[in-house]
Amino acid sequence: MIEVAKRLQKVEEYYFSKKLKEVAFLKSQGKPIINLGIGSPDLEPPFKASMMLQDSLMEPEAHQYQSYQGLPELRDAIASFYNKHFQVHLSGQTEVLPLMGSKEGIMHISMAFLNKGDKVLIPNPGYPTYAAVTKLLEAKPVMYDLKADRNWEPDFGALERLDLSRVKIMWINYPHMPTGANATNKFYDKVIAFGKRHDILIVNDNPYSFILNDKPNSIMRYRDAKDVCLELNSLSKTFNMAGWRVGMLVGKYDFVNAVLRVKSNMDSGMFFGIQKGAIEALKCSDIWFKSLNSVYQRRRALVYKLAQALNCTYDDQATGMFVWAKLPPHIKSEEFTDLVLKEHSLFITPGTVFGSNGEGYVRFSLCAEEDLIEEAISRV
Ligand SMILES: Cc1ncc(COP(=O)(O)O)c(C=O)c1O
Repeated sequence: MIEVAKRLQKVEEYYFSKKLKEVAFLKSQGKPIINLGIGSPDLEPPFKASMMLQDSLMEPEAHQYQSYQGLPELRDAIASFYNKHFQVHLSGQTEVLPLMGSKEGIMHISMAFLNKGDKVLIPNPGYPTYAAVTKLLEAKPVMYDLKADRNWEPDFGALERLDLSRVKIMWINYPHMPTGANATNKFYDKVIAFGKRHDILIVNDNPYSFILNDKPNSIMRYRDAKDVCLELNSLSKTFNMAGWRVGMLVGKYDFVNAVLRVKSNMDSGMFFGIQKGAIEALKCSDIWFKSLNSVYQRRRALVYKLAQALNCTYDDQATGMFVWAKLPPHIKSEEFTDLVLKEHSLFITPGTVFGSNGEGYVRFSLCAEEDLIEEAISRV
C-alpha cells in the first residue's frame, strides 16, 4: 500500500474542484446550468497583449528556458505600473518578482518564511488557499474574525490578546474577497505597526484593486511598509488573463530574494510570449480600466436584482468582481445554494467556503454575460 504524505490528510480537495464536477454532471444530464459561482473572467484580455504573445513566438529566444526572475522589461513594467497606479516607487531590479499567478506566490512566500509549527494569521472569511498552504507546510492557521459591523476589518484589540509568539505571517486581502470591503488608511497604518511590533510579515494579497473600485490602493504606499510587508498582485482579474498565469510579488529586496530562493528551485521561468504579452497589458491606458468596469457595472446592477429576487441583501458600497449577499434569516448558506442549484439550475457560492464567518452569506460572481444574469433573474 503506497500511502500519500501525512500533510495531505490536513487538506481537502478545493471546494470548486469538487463542486464543478457536480455541476458538470448536472450539465451532462441536460440541466441548463448558469454559473455565477466562479470568478474566472470571461472577457477578452487587452488585444495588444494577445498580439504580442502571438508575434513573440517567432523570436529566437521564445522557446528557451527563461530567467527565474522574469525578463528585466517585465520587472520594469511592473515597477512602472506600481508607480503609475499606486504612486509606489519600486526598483524593477530588486523589489519585484514576476510570478505565475499570485496563487503560487502564497505557497512560495509560505515556504520562504514558515517553519513547522509556526503560526499564521488568516482572515475568516477569506481566500481558502491561505489556510490550505499553511497546513500543507505543517504550520498552524490562526483564523482572525472579519465581521460586517467592522466593515470586514480585523479587531486589533482581539489580535493583541492572542498568543502571538510563533506567528510569522499575517495574510490580509484588501479589497477583500469575498466581501468586496475596502480598507481605510488607518487600517493600513495599524496593521503595519502591528507587524513591526510583533515581527510579523504582513502580506497583502491585492488582485482586485482595479475592479469596480474608485481608489486602487497598495499597502506599499504606507509609511514603513517595506520594513514588514509584501504585496501580491495579479493580471488575472485586472486584464482578464487568469489562464495566462501572471502575477507579481513586490517588497524589499531581502524578502523578495528569499521568495526567489524558493521559486527558482521550483520552476524554470515563465514562457517568453506570456511575459511579452503581460508587458503590453501592464502599459494599458485608463481607457482599459474604464471599459472593463463599465461591463462589470452593468452586470452588477443585474446581480443586485437577482439578489433581491432571492430575498438577499447586499452592501452597494462594496467593490470587486463579486456581490457578497446576506441571506434571509434561518437558512444556512450551503442549504440555500444547493436549493438554488436544484430549483433554478443556478450555481452560486456558499459563504462558508471562505470560512465560518461566511455562514449566512452567498457570493455571486460577475463573470457571466448580461443575458445569462437576466435569464437567472427570470428563473427566480
Ligand atoms: C483573494 C485571491 N487571491 C489570489 C487569487 C489567485 O489569483 P491568481 O493566482 O490568478 O493571480 C485569487 C483568485 O481567485 C483570489 O480570489
